[in-house]
Amino acid sequence: MNLLPAVRSFLSSPKQLLIDGEWVDAKDGRTFATVNPSTEEDLVQVAYASSVDVDRAVVAARAAFESGSPWSRMTPRDRSHLLWRIGDLIEAHADELAQLEALDNGKRVEAARDGDIATAAELFRYFAGWATKMEGTTIPMSVPGREFHAYTRREPIGVVAGIVPWNFPLLMACFKIIPAITAGNTVILKPAEQTPLTALRLGELLLEAGVPAGVVNVLPGFGDTGAALVAHHGVDKVAFTGSTEVGKKIAAAAAGNLKKVSLELGGKAPNIIFADADIDAAIAGAVLGGYFNEGQCCVNGSRLYVQRGVFDRVVEGVAAAAAAITVGDGFDPAAQMGPLVSQEQHEKVLGYIRGAVRDGAVLTAGSADRVGDRGYFVQPTLITGVDERMAVQTDEIFGPVVTAIPFDTEDEVVAAANNTVYGLAAGVWSTDIGTAHRVGARLRAGTVWLNTWHADDVTLPRGGFKQSGWGRELGSFGLDDYTELKTVIAELR
Ligand code: NAI
Ligand code: MG
Repeated sequence: MNLLPAVRSFLSSPKQLLIDGEWVDAKDGRTFATVNPSTEEDLVQVAYASSVDVDRAVVAARAAFESGSPWSRMTPRDRSHLLWRIGDLIEAHADELAQLEALDNGKRVEAARDGDIATAAELFRYFAGWATKMEGTTIPMSVPGREFHAYTRREPIGVVAGIVPWNFPLLMACFKIIPAITAGNTVILKPAEQTPLTALRLGELLLEAGVPAGVVNVLPGFGDTGAALVAHHGVDKVAFTGSTEVGKKIAAAAAGNLKKVSLELGGKAPNIIFADADIDAAIAGAVLGGYFNEGQCCVNGSRLYVQRGVFDRVVEGVAAAAAAITVGDGFDPAAQMGPLVSQEQHEKVLGYIRGAVRDGAVLTAGSADRVGDRGYFVQPTLITGVDERMAVQTDEIFGPVVTAIPFDTEDEVVAAANNTVYGLAAGVWSTDIGTAHRVGARLRAGTVWLNTWHADDVTLPRGGFKQSGWGRELGSFGLDDYTELKTVIAELR
C-alpha cells in the first residue's frame, strides 16, 4: 500500500483530543483503537473523551463564544475569508485526507478524494459566501399615532455539539462545523468511534487556517461521549446524524435545558420504476442508488418497486450489474466497492441477508456469506420474493442490499412506498413528465429524485420527513437551524 509520507507520519503517534486550540490526552488517559476494515488491523490509538473532557471542551467553546472574544469580534468578511482558506487547505491536502478516509472507513481512495474530500472543500467555499449574507428584514408596524422601526437579526445560538456517523466521516463533520461557524457559533465535534481520523486531521487544518482557540473542539469517543454532550447544560444545540434509535434518545435527553436539536436520521428510500421509463438509465440508477458507498448511505434507494411489465428485465439488469461489482481493499485500483465499516456492521448486514433467505426470499444476486476471510466485505445483493413485512424490507440495513417488488398501479405503489416510518429520500423513473412529477409530489420524503439518483449539490437543502429527522441541512435553509432570530422594535420619538 502506497501511503503518503504525511499519512504515515499522522499514524505514527497516538491521536489526542482538540480542546481550546491544544492537543491533549483524555483526562483519564483512556484510548481506543481505530481499525482498518479492509485488513481488520488497528491503525492507531485515539484518545477517548469522557464527560470530564466534555466539560473542559464546553468551557473552552463557551469562552470562545462569549461577547468580546476574538471570535465574536471577527467581522463577517474575515469569517468568510477564513472559511475560504480552509477550503483551499482541504484541497491542498486532498490526497492525504482521501488516504486517511480510505484506511479508516474502507471506501475507495478515489471515491473519498473525488466525493467526500472534494465536496468538503466546496462546502467551505459555498458557506464562505453566506458569512457576509446573514441578513434580516425590516417589518412594518401599524400602531395609530406612533412610529416604529422594527427589524430582525440572525444571531448565533452558542455552543453547538456536532455528533456524526462513520459513513462519510470528514463530510459529516463538515456538515456540522461549517454552517455552525459560518453563523458565528462555536463547536464541539464528536466523530464516530469507527472513523475519527479525518476529523482529527481537519482539526489540525482548522488551527493552521487561523480558527481561534476553542471555536472548534474535536472529541473522539463512543456513544457515552455523545450522550455526555447531549446532557450538558452548557451546550445550546445538538446537530446529529446517525440512527433513528439514537436520534430519539437525543431528542429526549436534550429536554434538560431545552437545547435546540437538529436530526438527520435513517432512511429506507423507495425507488419506483414505471414501465415507460428509460429502462437502461433506470437500471443504472438503481445500481448507483442501491450500492453507492457500500450501501452505507441514508439516501440510498434500497427498496426497488418495478412495474410488472418490466420487472424481469430490470431485475436481470440490476442483478447482472451487482454480480459484476469487484469487491476489495479500498487501496486496490481494481476494486469497485470496499468493505463495510466495521465488524458490527458486517454482522448486521449478513444477518439481514440470512434472515431474508430464512423468510423465503430469493437472492437474485449476492450471497449471505462473507467475501474472503479477512476484512468486512459483502457482495452486493439483490433480493426478490420479498413481502412488505420482512425485516429486510422494513428496516434500514445500511449495506449493499436492495429488495425488488413488482407493482401494477400508481396508487398501489405510492401507498407501498410511503408505508415506512422513514422519509428521507425517494425516486421515480418515468418518461411521462406528468407521472414523474405527480408521483414525486405524492412521496413523503425530504429529497425526491426524478429520472436520476444521487444527483447532488452543496446548494441543495436536505433532511427528513417523519422519523428521518428534524430540520434541513445545507443550502440557504441550512443556516436557519444554526441561528436565533431576534426581533428588534425601536420607537421613533
Ligand atoms: P449510531 O446512531 O449509534 O452512531 C452515530 C453517532 O452517534 C456516533 O458518533 C455515536 O458514537 C453517537 N452515539 C451513539 N449513541 C449515542 C447517544 N446515546 N448519545 C449521543 N451520541 C451517541 O449509529 P451506528 O451504531 O454507528 O450505526 C447503527 C445503524 O444506524 C446503522 O446500521 C444504520 O442503519 C444507522 N445509521 C444511519 C446513518 C445515517 O446517516 N442516517 C449513519 C450511521 C448509522
Ligand atoms: Mg475505523
